[in-house]
Amino acid sequence: MTRPLKIAFAGLGTVGGGVVKALQKRSEILEARAGRPLEIVGMCARSRHKSRGFEVTNWVDDPQALAAGDADVIVELIGGEDGPALALSEAALESGKHVVTANKALLARHGAHLAALAESKGLALRFEAAVAGGIPIVKSLRESLIAYGVVTVRGILNGTCNYILTQMEATGRSFEEVLSDAQHLGYAEADPTLDVGGGDTAHKLALLAGLAFGMTPDLDHMPVEGIAHISPEDIAFAREFGYRIKLLGIAKATAQGIDQRVQPAMVKAGTPLADVDGAFNAVMAVANDAGPFFFEGRGAGEAPTANAVIADLVDIARGNMGPAFGIPAHSLISLSPAPAGSAVSAFYLRFQVLDVPGVLAEIAGHLAKWRVSIESMIQRGRAPSEAVSIVMITHETKHADVQRALKTIALSDKVIAPPCMIPMEAR
Ligand code: HSE
Repeated sequence: MTRPLKIAFAGLGTVGGGVVKALQKRSEILEARAGRPLEIVGMCARSRHKSRGFEVTNWVDDPQALAAGDADVIVELIGGEDGPALALSEAALESGKHVVTANKALLARHGAHLAALAESKGLALRFEAAVAGGIPIVKSLRESLIAYGVVTVRGILNGTCNYILTQMEATGRSFEEVLSDAQHLGYAEADPTLDVGGGDTAHKLALLAGLAFGMTPDLDHMPVEGIAHISPEDIAFAREFGYRIKLLGIAKATAQGIDQRVQPAMVKAGTPLADVDGAFNAVMAVANDAGPFFFEGRGAGEAPTANAVIADLVDIARGNMGPAFGIPAHSLISLSPAPAGSAVSAFYLRFQVLDVPGVLAEIAGHLAKWRVSIESMIQRGRAPSEAVSIVMITHETKHADVQRALKTIALSDKVIAPPCMIPMEAR
């Protein structure tokens, strides 16, 4: 019989459990795909005796012990950007074991280092499950969309945020109300900070940018904004202008350098990204002359993420040991960031103001001073002296200019809340 690929698991939660179940239930078909049996030789998790719906075998108490065992591959599903996950990944590679991980936080910080270590030992470091769950975007950027180069990647990379924004639009309820419901239903984490603050999207974007541009993943030059400040009013105005608000991870190669950021953006209704609803993820990758490619699918959950891990394991079983980020780790370039605020787009602006003479002129004056040109505007009248929203869509303008204008406008005694600015993407 052909030598099996021996696999050990550090972490048996949703993803790890899903992989074990699929390996146990579909062993024959997966063996045919892999060209050899996929054999589980080690399991380790926080609790041994939890009921998991599969048989726990080859148990070890300490995940670090897996690096010294007889596995060919360690599946790292511990999580966390340092600590045990980093220690295990390093020890596994040092001792000649391939590593498959779903840990975006780990790779966004240490991906280039781990990739170099893997290559120096002739090993594979694979992470399909780390970005957009079941969507095969890592392999696509690493091995498929390569002939003409990729210039832009835009992604809806966090299902929790997309679910919340979709529900806010459908129900007219506030961010806080929808988040609380989502937590009760188990759709959002008890501590949702990493999701709704944009951090999870940032980790995933750093990996996509690394793959797309052949660069070291870089979280240090990436402005990150979450969705907590998005109001039902913004969502309703967006709809009125023909847009939907989505939390996007955006990485673009520009003449000034790489522009990468995470922020809520207005996406034109009817375009592929705008139509991604609920907890789904999606990625639009623009590959120069080869054109745009759009991927959509489930970004989390047992089967989609287990599918991604198993695809990596089968790749390794077949001997696909290519570099983790598509080019040798020593060739990965350091990000040369586009200057802060140099990105150009149209904007949605909303000002909460007192409806008194001169307020519009004052706002328009500050915008004009920073060369921000208004394309269209809505103001709904109410009783004199009551607060109203003035909403504008601008022409294309530099982000820094809008930021400067809004900083001054916010100081006006007629403006009663911090102005809201949301860029329009891909309109
Ligand atoms: N919490 C993430 C999401 C999935 O909501 O999409 C894991 O990164």
